[in-house]
Amino acid sequence: MDKKELFRQIVEFRHACKLFDKDKIIPKEDLFYILDMGRLSPSSFGMEGWKFLAIQNPTLKEKLKPVCWNQPQITTCSDLIVILAAIDRLKPKNGIVAEKFARRGLPKEKYEAYLNVYSDFLKDEIEDDDKMFCWSSKQTYLAAMSLMLAAASIGVDSCPIEGFEREKVENILGIDTKKYRVSLLLPLGYRVNPQPKHLREKLEDIVEFII
Ligand SMILES: Cc1cc2nc3c(=O)[nH]c(=O)nc-3n(C[C@H](O)[C@H](O)[C@H](O)COP(=O)(O)O)c2cc1C
Repeated sequence: MDKKELFRQIVEFRHACKLFDKDKIIPKEDLFYILDMGRLSPSSFGMEGWKFLAIQNPTLKEKLKPVCWNQPQITTCSDLIVILAAIDRLKPKNGIVAEKFARRGLPKEKYEAYLNVYSDFLKDEIEDDDKMFCWSSKQTYLAAMSLMLAAASIGVDSCPIEGFEREKVENILGIDTKKYRVSLLLPLGYRVNPQPKHLREKLEDIVEFII
């Protein structure tokens, strides 16, 4: 199949699935494929400020549902991916940032220069965890898109979910919020109902060419 057509089919297959078939479990190797595609997502300065929790435990899903606006996707999905946005590990002082620059194999002066640009760019975020979460969370959304499209490419449905009470979800999951905060929930599984039509504006209404 033509590559453009193939990609269009993947994009069109993805929709915000509202109800999953509880009895259909994603095979392990498919789940690993999806998560691995998320791992390959781009991130600012290459910092990869995310972590993915894959929750399969039904009791834990039941516990989470009431703090996720009682959305049925939480308990009917096969795997509930909780996308965490890093906080502390993105601060230069802890050494992880330096390691990320060092792994590029740059000469020392160059990687120190990168580290300075990074520290300067993020000077407000380094002092304020809410601001760091904003920056870090934006990037996890890119990873979420990679996860959703990878899932769609192998017939797995998904639904990005920001309808949840973050602090309560973090509490239930026992997250150390100095290290990570919950950015987005992404249930994965198999649809019960046929997908509705995508409602979108026309291309000419959202694109402006500047020549
Ligand atoms: C960041 C984000 C958060 C969302 N949160 C929810 C949610 O909490 N519950 C839900 O059912 N859908 C949620 N959605 C899905 C959107 O409602 C959906 O993508 C949009 O209506 C377009 O429909 P489609 O994705 O099926 O084309 C969210 C989408 C995004 C991108």
